[in-house]
Amino acid sequence: MARLSVVLLLVVATVLVLRWRRPAWYWMTIGVVLAALRVLVRYASVMDACGLTVPPSRWRLALSRMTDRPAPEPRAPRIRCLRPTRTGLVLRLKLRPGQDAFDVSAATDRLRHSFGMYGVAAREIRSGVVELRMTGYDVLKRVQMPAKIDRAPMRVPVALREDGSVQYRDYRTVPHGLTIGATESGKSVYQRNLVAGLAAQDVALVGIDCKQGVELFPLARRFSALADNQDTALDLLEALVSHMESVYQLVRAEQRISVNVPDAEIAADIWDLAEDLRPTPVVVLVDEVSELALFASKEEERRRDRIITALVRLAQLGRAAGIYLEICGQRFGSELGKGITMLRAQLTGRTVHRVNDETSANMAFGDISPDAVLAAIQIPADAPGVAVAGDSTGGWSRIRAPHISLREAVNLCNKHADRTPDVPVLAPFRPAVASSASGAVTLNKASAATA
Ligand SMILES: Nc1ncnc2c1ncn2[C@@H]1O[C@H](COP(=O)(O)OP(=O)(O)OP(=O)(O)O)[C@@H](O)[C@H]1O
Ligand SMILES: [Mg+2]
Repeated sequence: MARLSVVLLLVVATVLVLRWRRPAWYWMTIGVVLAALRVLVRYASVMDACGLTVPPSRWRLALSRMTDRPAPEPRAPRIRCLRPTRTGLVLRLKLRPGQDAFDVSAATDRLRHSFGMYGVAAREIRSGVVELRMTGYDVLKRVQMPAKIDRAPMRVPVALREDGSVQYRDYRTVPHGLTIGATESGKSVYQRNLVAGLAAQDVALVGIDCKQGVELFPLARRFSALADNQDTALDLLEALVSHMESVYQLVRAEQRISVNVPDAEIAADIWDLAEDLRPTPVVVLVDEVSELALFASKEEERRRDRIITALVRLAQLGRAAGIYLEICGQRFGSELGKGITMLRAQLTGRTVHRVNDETSANMAFGDISPDAVLAAIQIPADAPGVAVAGDSTGGWSRIRAPHISLREAVNLCNKHADRTPDVPVLAPFRPAVASSASGAVTLNKASAATA
């Protein structure tokens, strides 16, 4: 008996330690079974308590009266399926007549603690069918990306959402992106994840890092062009604009619209071109964008205006030429001068890390979703990397990128260095990389400076 108690005590202690230190393992071993049982057993009473039931229909009441049976109970939405996932449970419900998806969304917080889950989010799949995505633990505390990820060209798994799904940065559906966040909030790590994801794809990476290149220059082997000061950035952006124009010439030359060409085969962007003709897509990563917009003299102001004009042109016309912008900054508002709000309007993908004031969050989400602004200003200072991101459905979710160190990113970029394409117009800006005796990457900046 004593031995059994000791074994039992040990098992309970192991389970508790597992739950505390390794919630993902706990979930996949015991948590998922307990949670599924809890949801199924408590379902009817929880739905009733949360006001998600409908009174019995008239014919059921009449039937019970005729057969002299007790009055039927109110009915909860029907469970279509309950599916366990790596991080939680997915419960699909068929709503009863008179219920709507908003009732369920409004009750998610009550459902969360009634079912003993960490988080619950509701979304309508189709008319009358609602999916509740429940997470068993705080998946953003220690981000682990799932092993099975949908891979597609120009689509990068960049972070984990709080409902356990993967946040993708898909350049073909959302061509340009803006990432805002206070200092030390995790913008550069987010951008590093993008570089790491894109490194293995056939894409030319272009970097503008006016923080003396500390973030992007170590990744130089995988970059087709880099700039670490405003002068080089201006030349680089103007070279990209001329590249864009030549791509449009190519697309136009290949259009050949005639009565025999079906509508779907008329080329309107690089993706419609035959693979052997298609120019390499280019992703332009800009870190600390405000450095490009600040000036102290008349001459610098002229340079700044040219930089912003080139960026606006790339944002407005670049998509079809396969040029995508990824802009990062601490703030990105009208106080940075003319052209900034016009540029911002073209940056569809919005991500906000921790910000110090509501105005900064408004710069990304003010005109999209007040709820997202509120969520962004609530991000705690002790969770760098947590952000609020707009998604393709027009909604938003809390996300966190996996922590990738600069060394890991450098190793990945070095591994895929042979994929770095030669874009002729970018050749003058291609960093000349040499390995120093210590193994660190050093740059021969002369090549960029003489451009
Ligand atoms: N996703 C993450 N998970 C865990 N830690 C993170 C994450 N992102 C960032 N951090 C931590 O926060 C620190 C600051 O991150 P990062 O350099 O990306 O901030 P930043 O917003 O670019 O700051 P700055 O504006 O000063 O350049 C990093 O050193 C890292 O340790
Ligand atoms: Mg940074």
